Amino acid sequence: MKENTSYFETNRQGWNARTELHKDSEFYDVKSFKEGKSSLLKIVDGLLDDISGKSLLHLQCHFGMDSLSLSRKGAQVTGIDISDKGIETAISLSQELNIPARFIRTNVYDIEQVLGEENFDHVFTSYGTIVWLPDLNEWARLIHKYLKSGGQFTIVDFHPALDMFNWEKEKLEYNYFNKGVYEETLENTYAAKEQELILKEFFWIHSLSEIMSALLDHGLQIKHFKEYDYSPYNCFENMKERKENEYVWGSHGIAFPHVFSLQCIKP
Ligand SMILES: C[S@@+](CC[C@H](N)C(=O)[O-])C[C@H]1O[C@@H](n2cnc3c(N)ncnc32)[C@H](O)[C@@H]1O
Repeated sequence: MKENTSYFETNRQGWNARTELHKDSEFYDVKSFKEGKSSLLKIVDGLLDDISGKSLLHLQCHFGMDSLSLSRKGAQVTGIDISDKGIETAISLSQELNIPARFIRTNVYDIEQVLGEENFDHVFTSYGTIVWLPDLNEWARLIHKYLKSGGQFTIVDFHPALDMFNWEKEKLEYNYFNKGVYEETLENTYAAKEQELILKEFFWIHSLSEIMSALLDHGLQIKHFKEYDYSPYNCFENMKERKENEYVWGSHGIAFPHVFSLQCIKP
């Protein structure tokens, strides 16, 4: 993983800068969250229905709103993220709102250094996570390691088919199949588009078969898989709300897969 160190470092700095804007953004609506509203949207909420009393490891938890929403549902949550600002903000929200959760700043790939031999009933990750990870084989190994026997992994993320497009220009720009790292420079962040923020970032696109094969190769059993023709977040350029909390991308009216959900069990 040494070859990716400088990519991770650039992305960490980018996520620090984004978090400063995200925590005050209308998009994340921290005010409503503080008043008791869950930040979990329907797909995740439905899949993580029965988590009261369960231990849950939340990978790439950003600044912790979903982790804390899961804690409000009764889970014992550990959230990890590479961003210092993300983890600082998560800890401060947890303390201010008196919602118990543990937050640790770490790269996904370094979790063994902080979690040792612990294990969890659930491992969970969602929306905008897999593209920051170069190596899904190692990712799946860690998910398998940190699940208890009988434990469940849940991922809900943007569909790799949608990642093929340049959303602003509405044209195909990226390979569906993983061809290595992409570099991009953005002028703002999805949650605060009105504010200028120059962001350089490195990302990787992983096909659905690459994602599933990595999990299957590590002995996890797939128990649920679904694709959705909308995103619950208005987070890309050129999205339209077709009904409440259902956004579709592009002006051509063609039904694209926007999001997928996948759950596995460790036998
Ligand atoms: C789009 S956010 C996840 C969104 C989250 N569902 C939310 O909206 O609250 C992606 C997160 O991945 C984190 N991240 C990126 N690369 C990472 C890595 N290698 N290890 C751990 N976290 C990483 C970023 O810091 C960021 O907080």
